[in-house]
Amino acid sequence: MRAVWFGVLAATLLVAPATRAADVAAGKAKAQVCAGCHGENGISQTENIPSLAGQPDQFLQWQLVFFRAGSRKNEQMQPIVEELTNEDIRNLGAYFSQLTPPKGSEDKDPDLSKKGAQVAAGRRCASCHTDSFAGTKGVARLADQREEYLVKALHDYKAGQRVGGGVAAMADVAYHMSDEEITAVSHYLAHLK
Ligand code: HEC
Ligand code: HEC
Repeated sequence: MRAVWFGVLAATLLVAPATRAADVAAGKAKAQVCAGCHGENGISQTENIPSLAGQPDQFLQWQLVFFRAGSRKNEQMQPIVEELTNEDIRNLGAYFSQLTPPKGSEDKDPDLSKKGAQVAAGRRCASCHTDSFAGTKGVARLADQREEYLVKALHDYKAGQRVGGGVAAMADVAYHMSDEEITAVSHYLAHLK
């Protein structure tokens, strides 16, 4: 009996060092390449480029893996991900997920936000993206993301241009949305308080 337990313990100790913890400092160093597009501290100032700050760790890692595998396609991300190792991806996920998320700018069209809130409630976006829209695990943060990027992402899902990881969740959701609904819900999500 004792010998068995010893065996288990030895095996555990052998396995442990292989699953090294992600290294935020190494992620930060690697993230210098990203800042030109995704902004300082992961807050994007550039049209059609998403903020990464505060995205769930798993979501970030999965998207980088999808880009690298070619299942998510983007000309600008392609050459970047080719250079990334699995360890880089773990470290980048750890780094960007612990940054302070973007803050919504002033809402200049509260009526559109009201419509967007109704769309979000009717289509149960929060059931996956969480009540605060901060996201969780492989599900993206949407709160205060750039408005035009949210619009683009929803159109990409709707057109079948963005597939994700074989989980058809968003394709199913977006397929049924009208352009007006996409515009309204994106405006709402980009200005959450
Ligand atoms: C040359 C500009 C550029 C650089 C440099 C760049 N990215 Fe991107 N990145 C983009 C664009 C554009 C998109 C949006 C792609 C789309 O529309 O589907 C994107 C999307 C992403 C996404 C998906 C986010 C989401 O919300 O769906 C992640 C994660 C990401 N980039 C991480 C990184 C990391 C990490 C680095 C640095 C190692 C980096 N990017 C460097 C342009 C860039
Ligand atoms: C059944 C679960 C589910 C529901 C319901 C859902 N989503 Fe998603 N959503 C996801 C998942 C999972 C992802 C990440 C998919 C991927 O890997 O591309 C995602 C990604 C997104 C993205 C891309 C974000 C980014 O940064 O790239 C947007 C935008 C989005 N969802 C908006 C919505 C809106 C708006 C609604 C409601 C109308 C909604 N979602 C409902 C699961 C869901």
